[in-house]
Amino acid sequence: MKEPQLIDLPKFADKRGSLSIIQELVNIPFVIERVYWIYDVPGGEIRGSHAFKEQQELIVALSGSFDVVLHDGEKEQVFSLNRSNKGVLVPKLYWRTIRNFSSNALAFVLASTRYSETDYIRDFDEFIKLRNQHE
Ligand code: TYD
Repeated sequence: MKEPQLIDLPKFADKRGSLSIIQELVNIPFVIERVYWIYDVPGGEIRGSHAFKEQQELIVALSGSFDVVLHDGEKEQVFSLNRSNKGVLVPKLYWRTIRNFSSNALAFVLASTRYSETDYIRDFDEFIKLRNQHE
């Protein structure tokens, strides 16, 4: 089973500002099939709370900050994101929750699959069962 990873994206900074890049199969280990973003999150709200059977994703805080909480069935890891050039790589079969959104936070997500509700695991007990089958 792959492990979650904090990825440093290239950053070109000069007096005009900064520029960062993501190239599929260069900075991330998958082909990008979909891009979505989460924004206008009211204070205290929690997003996610699900896992994916196949999808991998990279989550970047393009603006503001938030915590990506990843559960492997036994323990939890918290990745606090607040830089536009750092992303969390979320492998398949991790229960992921995003919380502690700052105001104006923008969570940018690059996904390895098209949207498919059948790829979602929305029940934590079912997630644990599937996870145990893959151990
Ligand atoms: P949801 O998975 O609940 O978002 P989060 O992971 O932040 O909890 O998605 C919210 C709604 O958006 C839900 O009705 C499904 C829909 N949606 C799509 O139609 N296509 C997509 O690519 C995504 C990510 C969500």
